[in-house]
Amino acid sequence: MPWEYLQTKELDKRFIKVAELVDFKNKHIVDLNGGSCRLRLYIDGFTSYTANDIYPSYAPDDSKINFHCEDDSMFADRVERADIVCLFGHGAGDYLASPYESPTLSESLVRIVKKTMPETVVIEASKKYEDTFGMLEDLKRELFVYDTGIKHELSGDGEYGDRVLYILRLK
Ligand SMILES: C[S@@+](CC[C@H](N)C(=O)[O-])C[C@H]1O[C@@H](n2cnc3c(N)ncnc32)[C@H](O)[C@@H]1O
Repeated sequence: MPWEYLQTKELDKRFIKVAELVDFKNKHIVDLNGGSCRLRLYIDGFTSYTANDIYPSYAPDDSKINFHCEDDSMFADRVERADIVCLFGHGAGDYLASPYESPTLSESLVRIVKKTMPETVVIEASKKYEDTFGMLEDLKRELFVYDTGIKHELSGDGEYGDRVLYILRLK
């Protein structure tokens, strides 16, 4: 799969940064299209961690993660509660026709956020994709009841090594 690079320690800088800035203690966490959900490696003390991904091969081997192997639209129907909603690695599938990226990802995120009104929303992507498509900017506009958050830029090697991250808080 084209995003295997995301499941590496080098790209864990995304999760490490979020773990520094967000308090996950006693929180209900949702990790949308989470792949192998490596955020989990850097946090503890949460109340629940619910995630999905369409590919079963990524299913994390971790009894603390309530993992659903399903499309994000179905998952968005399922989720009832969240204090923190995370979307790491937005692949701009709603903007380009890719067989590997979800065409409904932004829509599913917005649906989950509007339904659960979490206190914190984390959105993240490669700088290259964000500069080209602006999908995180679009999400921030749509989620206008959240403050626009600080832009965190994480630098790294390779085409997708530079990352952009926002932590949005409910106003
Ligand atoms: C760019 S990767 C991001 C993975 C992970 N969130 C991360 O940042 O490490 C995109 C993920 O979306 C999943 N995916 C693609 N289409 C999907 C869909 N329609 N529903 C759910 N997951 C999907 C892929 O299997 C992949 O794990």
